[in-house]
Amino acid sequence: MYQWILGHITWPRGILGLILVSLLALYWFTRVPSSMPRNIPTVPIYISLLGLWSDMGQDDIYDRWLREPLERYGAVKIWFAGRWNVLATRPSFLVDMFRHEDVYAKAGSQKKIPWSVIASLVGDNIINSHGETWRLYTSIMKPGLQRRITDSRPLLEKSRKFVDIILEEQQILGPDRGVLVNPIIQRWAISCMGIHFMDVDLEAIERPGQRLEVLQTIIKMTLFHPLFFNFPQLDRYPYIFRQRKVAFGIMQEFGDLLCETVKQRPSHDETADGDQVVDYLDRALKEGRITEEQYRANLKVTFLTAHENTQQLLNSTFWVLGQNQDIQQRLRAEILATGEEDPSTELVHSLPYLFAVILELLRLYPPVSQLINRVTTSVAVLGGKVAIPNRTWVGWNAFGVHTDLSVWGSDAREFNPDRWGKDVKSIQNTLRSKTTQCHFIAFNAHSRKCLGQGFAVLQMKILLFEMLRRIEWTVDPQYEFKLTSGGIMAPLGLRAVINERSR
Ligand code: HEM
Repeated sequence: MYQWILGHITWPRGILGLILVSLLALYWFTRVPSSMPRNIPTVPIYISLLGLWSDMGQDDIYDRWLREPLERYGAVKIWFAGRWNVLATRPSFLVDMFRHEDVYAKAGSQKKIPWSVIASLVGDNIINSHGETWRLYTSIMKPGLQRRITDSRPLLEKSRKFVDIILEEQQILGPDRGVLVNPIIQRWAISCMGIHFMDVDLEAIERPGQRLEVLQTIIKMTLFHPLFFNFPQLDRYPYIFRQRKVAFGIMQEFGDLLCETVKQRPSHDETADGDQVVDYLDRALKEGRITEEQYRANLKVTFLTAHENTQQLLNSTFWVLGQNQDIQQRLRAEILATGEEDPSTELVHSLPYLFAVILELLRLYPPVSQLINRVTTSVAVLGGKVAIPNRTWVGWNAFGVHTDLSVWGSDAREFNPDRWGKDVKSIQNTLRSKTTQCHFIAFNAHSRKCLGQGFAVLQMKILLFEMLRRIEWTVDPQYEFKLTSGGIMAPLGLRAVINERSR
């Protein structure tokens, strides 16, 4: 057969041989290892590569190819970041995974693909480290990450500025065109992150176009490029792929600029709410408890995680409340009934519907929709059912868990804040039990759950209080809804038509 083909085509044999060898190598590289669990299905590799030729949103991709096998088997084998992994959504599997950090150990890109652009960005940090190193980082950073915020004024000030700016933008555009909200949201999120974790007012919201903020847009585009996202092996060859060389340069620039910025921050007296993450990191570096590299990695990951997730959640908020005027009005009524213009932390925490709306947003639009960043440290049997070999990467999909009818009931896909409870106490109880059971994993669960959850929820409550009080919005009728195709989940390019409320 091979002889026949060679005899009937005009290509030189060398080229044909090269193609065959390449195809064989590709097959070898992408084949499912025989040691992977056999009692769960394999998602065809082309689904993971869809981003290369299609711009389908991650909700559509999930519904079309992942929902059925995942809801039936609880876990699947899936290609991600250049290898086959086990992805789970059945809550009992997740409880097992999250409770047994010794078996399903955190191992982010610094372990999985240490040569890659993303690894050069995040390094070894509090989110992706394991064991003793993680305990060290946590002992240093946790007090700063979880400090109680009693003074709501700094967040309120940034939220006021945010509302002022979207109103100005709307005025410039006129009534027929919606405001592109994401760039303004990013500036707000970076400003809030700066004043609460870096002890510096970066003034990203007041002064657009600053390099540290501009770099975030470039970084987000660089990291989620579908080709390099799926084949990070290509990052090994920056001299062939010039854009990867540029990408490494960008990551370096971001780290340098951030370290320089916090080093030069003006010193001020300790506030009533205590030291910030950067102060604790500074001290640990000075005392020799962490290296310069560890300092840098943890500073960068705090910068990224403390602004990006909330940024995307707010994009989803504009979409959901812009579409659901009844919910927007009901939330506004709760806020206006307080009669307050300067809400304190206690006041925003006392509003049940505000809390429930935020949780429902996180349920249907979890910014961290999927993560595969744990590795088995021995042979493991996930949930007593799926035998997984040692050194296999495992992960979870929050969008899948949160929209599974067998987990959340027949209205799982509807936006219904009332499902969380009627008063703050019952909402807190629902949140606690749903998290423990791994029915709700927007902030993950058990030992490695998010340490910034309290801050993120407070920040959203204060901003929504200010927004609902001062503006009304609808989604621009010309906007076509589409979620990101991978990475952080959020509507892409959302435009909202903003109207100032008469007071
Ligand atoms: C809406 C906002 C947020 C969402 C949805 C979110 C979500 C998450 C998720 C899913 C994880 C687990 C990651 C994993 O399994 O690897 C996590 C961990 C973490 N988050 Fe957040 N996060 C948010 C805001 C924040 C903020 C504002 C901070 C502040 C710096 C923060 C700091 C952290 C830290 C330090 C961890 C690692 C905890 C550990 O492993 O011990 N997060 N977050």
